[in-house]
Amino acid sequence: MSAPQDGWQPVAQVEDVEEDDVICARSCGRDLAVFNIEGSYYVTDDCCTHEEASLSEGYLQEDTIECPRHQGVFHVPTGKPMAAPVTEPLRTYQVRVEDGRLWVRFDE
Ligand code: FES
Repeated sequence: MSAPQDGWQPVAQVEDVEEDDVICARSCGRDLAVFNIEGSYYVTDDCCTHEEASLSEGYLQEDTIECPRHQGVFHVPTGKPMAAPVTEPLRTYQVRVEDGRLWVRFDE
């Protein structure tokens, strides 16, 4: 099977991300948070937009992630800030599943 092209990069094996869990993965020099929410996969930047903190170490509740440092909250599918002190949206990425792996699209 051919690999996805046009900016798609593998970031994790599907089985690495259990349902209703989040892991940190590194691809193309970026730290990413890889989420499995009720069987759907989402990828965002791992670093909080408020200060330095790893969101994959935060608290996942339904489709939101709470930052472990100051408890700011983001909506995972859209990256929208949901609770102070975060005000800047979190970058999100397109995700696809192929060959048992999760692929993310980097546009630039
Ligand atoms: S570092 Fe995430 S809310 Fe402050």
